Amino acid sequence: MVPVFLVIHEVKRTINEILIMNKAFDLIIFGGTGDLSLRKLLPSLYRAFLENKLDRQARIFLSTRKPDDYNNISDIAEKALHEFLTYNEFDQTQWSLFKDLIQPLFLDLSDIDKGWDEFVAQMEGYDDRDRIFYLATTPNVYGSTCEFLSEKSLITPNSRIVVEKPLGFDLQSAEEINAKMAQYFTEDQIYRIDHYLGKETVQNLMALRFSNSLFEQLWNANNIDHIQISINEQVGLEGRAGFYDKAGAMRDMVQNHLLQLLCLISMEPPAKLDAENIREEKIKVLKSLRPIIDEMVEKNTVRGQYQAGTINEKNVPSYIEELGNDKSQIETYVAIRAHIDNWRWSRVPFYLRTGKRLKRRSAEIVIQFKEVSHNIYSKEAGTPIPNRLIIQLQPEERMQLKLMAKDMNTLETKIKPVSLNLNFTTENEGFRSFAYKRLLLDAIAGNPTLFIHRDEVTSAWRWVDPIIEQWRKGQQPLQAYEAGSWGPEAANELLSKDNRHWIDIEDRSED
Ligand code: BG6
Repeated sequence: MVPVFLVIHEVKRTINEILIMNKAFDLIIFGGTGDLSLRKLLPSLYRAFLENKLDRQARIFLSTRKPDDYNNISDIAEKALHEFLTYNEFDQTQWSLFKDLIQPLFLDLSDIDKGWDEFVAQMEGYDDRDRIFYLATTPNVYGSTCEFLSEKSLITPNSRIVVEKPLGFDLQSAEEINAKMAQYFTEDQIYRIDHYLGKETVQNLMALRFSNSLFEQLWNANNIDHIQISINEQVGLEGRAGFYDKAGAMRDMVQNHLLQLLCLISMEPPAKLDAENIREEKIKVLKSLRPIIDEMVEKNTVRGQYQAGTINEKNVPSYIEELGNDKSQIETYVAIRAHIDNWRWSRVPFYLRTGKRLKRRSAEIVIQFKEVSHNIYSKEAGTPIPNRLIIQLQPEERMQLKLMAKDMNTLETKIKPVSLNLNFTTENEGFRSFAYKRLLLDAIAGNPTLFIHRDEVTSAWRWVDPIIEQWRKGQQPLQAYEAGSWGPEAANELLSKDNRHWIDIEDRSED
């Protein structure tokens, strides 16, 4: 017999889905023919459509100021789907239905005389609908777009605005953008995206922590020696030189994705699983981060830039060659030793690292437990190796728990490390995490849980800015690392000085 709570859960889910399906909405993507829109947003919307999660009366506007794009919007969208859908998902019949939802919008985001009146005309009679404005543009037009939307009375009580990370370039610019948006939208209407929060695997972090008493009891400085969080990438610039060479890994990855993972792994259990409670706990973590300032920067951070090398047996050029500017001092790799100064995490280091053109693509969190308090085994029997929990978020979702056990191959009293391995990807056939699909559907449904609050952005920049500022002063050398390696040697030294080393799920060194 199916347990009652499961039935109730199923009913709720179905009702939710029906609600989404039956609710017509208008989604306006500013920068509709740009990279983000074509690469991520359109494929995600198409996937949602395939799953019947988009109302057939919904309208998706792709804004452009290029007449060619305006006239060929269907072709552009179709081409993007062919190019960016990854699992052979394109279906001609479905496409012919989906394309009816898409409309071009001819609009100049920095000139209110170009296209805005026509935009108003297209919105007339649709005021009751949920209206989602998605700013898939560079931040320099955020201000003018909000202003024009307001001037043309396009912001209804049912409107929401979605903005991308990184929000701003530093604390000041982020504050300016936030203040500008706040002139026209309430905080509840502002949806700041960090696509890592849309990954099912990242949400599983909360499920693991807060629905298993086993882990949560041990989740503190009494039992944990340190935590490592790594996002390793194989890709290089991917044609984003203009953005990346101004941002670097710190703004592109640490300020948002890495700090969000840090928050989820270290925050106190929220009272409820809703936006307000989760955000509150994350903000507390960000505010408890020990500032890394002045000479502390050199001791606690490493910045690197990749040189030419080999990845998957292919030669790849250096960052400088890829960029075509030999003066660039931008970091493509960052490693940091961070501390959260609160009761739970007192004196537990959090080692963060991320980089481009590394050996493998992976995102992993390592929770390294402390040694047993008293070892009863002799040297000959083997030394107990402290327990370790590794949570891999990508490319596969796996969990590995390292334990000590009796060596069963011998009658002698010997102990050895063993692993408990769980692979969520193979356990859940057909499991695919599409972060943008999830987040777009949440924005459409008006669910802000997985979006970032203004105070999170502010606190994150407040911690990141002094590090970048110290780097800018040029006192911290940019470390070279070979493409296809695990990053600069200095990042290893950061840990070896603490008698520790970086660990990944494939690490067999102690088996
Ligand atoms: C983006 C960064 O936010 O995240 C990119 O701007 C990075 O530089 C990407 O490559 C990584 O995301 P994912 O989901 O591939 O790990």
